[in-house]
Amino acid sequence: MDKFVIEGGVALKGEVKISGSKNALLPILAATLLTQEKCIIKNAAILKDTLTMVKILRSLGVSVNIDNSTIEVKSGSFTKNTADYRLVSTMRASFCVLGPILARLKSAKVSLPGGCVIGVRPVDLHLKGLRTLGAKIEIKDGYVYAEAKQLRGERIFLGGSFGSSVLATDNVMMAAVLANGTTIIENAACEPEVEDLANFLNKMGAKIKGQGTPTIEIRGVKKLYGAEYEIIPDRIEAGTFAIAAAITKGHVVIKNIIPEHLGAVLEKLKEAGVLVKKGKDFIEVKRKNSLKPVDIATLPYPGFPTDMQAQFMTLMSITPGISVITERIYPERFMHVAELNRMGAQIFREGPSAIVHGVKNLVGAPVMASDLRASAALVLAGLVAKNKTEVFRVYHLDRGYEKLEKKLEILGARVFREKE
Ligand code: UD1
Repeated sequence: MDKFVIEGGVALKGEVKISGSKNALLPILAATLLTQEKCIIKNAAILKDTLTMVKILRSLGVSVNIDNSTIEVKSGSFTKNTADYRLVSTMRASFCVLGPILARLKSAKVSLPGGCVIGVRPVDLHLKGLRTLGAKIEIKDGYVYAEAKQLRGERIFLGGSFGSSVLATDNVMMAAVLANGTTIIENAACEPEVEDLANFLNKMGAKIKGQGTPTIEIRGVKKLYGAEYEIIPDRIEAGTFAIAAAITKGHVVIKNIIPEHLGAVLEKLKEAGVLVKKGKDFIEVKRKNSLKPVDIATLPYPGFPTDMQAQFMTLMSITPGISVITERIYPERFMHVAELNRMGAQIFREGPSAIVHGVKNLVGAPVMASDLRASAALVLAGLVAKNKTEVFRVYHLDRGYEKLEKKLEILGARVFREKE
């Protein structure tokens, strides 16, 4: 296993190019199962999670080729309908092959993903949506067995206790594109990644309207075709670099992004006293003065993303004053609190909130990465901490950040990948 050794204290300077969105890519790869024809996916981030999805597609008998940031998939006439526990349990997003396999093969057997460190993470909304489309669903031996001779369009309300669901919207949308009749998803997730999937499906010949809003209308078609598509930039990677610039008192131009996708994060950075200049496809982030405490609550898009909560907490941990960070999507997503406190932060849990008392300095320590975004928060802490920080289990980072240490190095950071 690898670890990162970080020598903190360098103000990051320069330009960084953001990769394609992982959370857009994974369902789009699953959507390629909906056509026999070849799909060409560009601006694909080649990460551990991407390779897991590729493994799942290959395990179904699908041909996949990777060439730099382009992935070619041809599902042809695949017949295997089973996504295995060993693959699905390593990555929840793989559960979104359920909709496309069902739509294409009329039956699917997909392992239940189980929980993960950020919470219980049920799949009831996915199953409710598919049942409403007419699928017969049974849960046996840890697997979901789904069957439907012909899915039919319906009106589906997809709201749960924590609001909309990104992957449930994706799963239902992918099943509905080949259904008989029109499906209306109400309380659909509005995340840009859902919109990207809908745009890809439309390029394949689907008839989807309203993506990016809470009401999505899908007119079922008989068949989908091959398509070439470029994935949107990763707003979470971009947001992480924006915080890296802010926390180190740096000056960084973050390129190849869609600034509007970062709305809530940039607003909060500005509120904290960070200078943010937006361009057409880039932002410039600079910090000169000391920071101001800011409260945040995570919410579905366009609210503040839960995937940026941990990183923002690191920034607030060295901001004079008190800030309150409330997690409304995953109330247990606070694994990073104890590790940040080991580096000298003063953060106190209070139900779904963390009360952050800003300290003058963080101090390097050996810390343990627990999940993808918590790991990013620890790397950010290492960039500003005194002395040396060791972040163990960086395989979590490798799941979602492409060449993170290389990109940070270009900006002047001293981050080294070593064997544990
Ligand atoms: C996606 C993202 C993840 C992000 C999350 C929330 C991908 C690959 N992953 O995950 O990075 O943190 O959105 O923005 O895109 N829920 C239910 N029932 C369900 C499904 C979800 O109650 O059937 C709950 C969840 O427990 C959570 C909330 O709904 O509290 C939102 O989760 P959801 O949007 O489904 O997250 P994912 O799509 O799994």
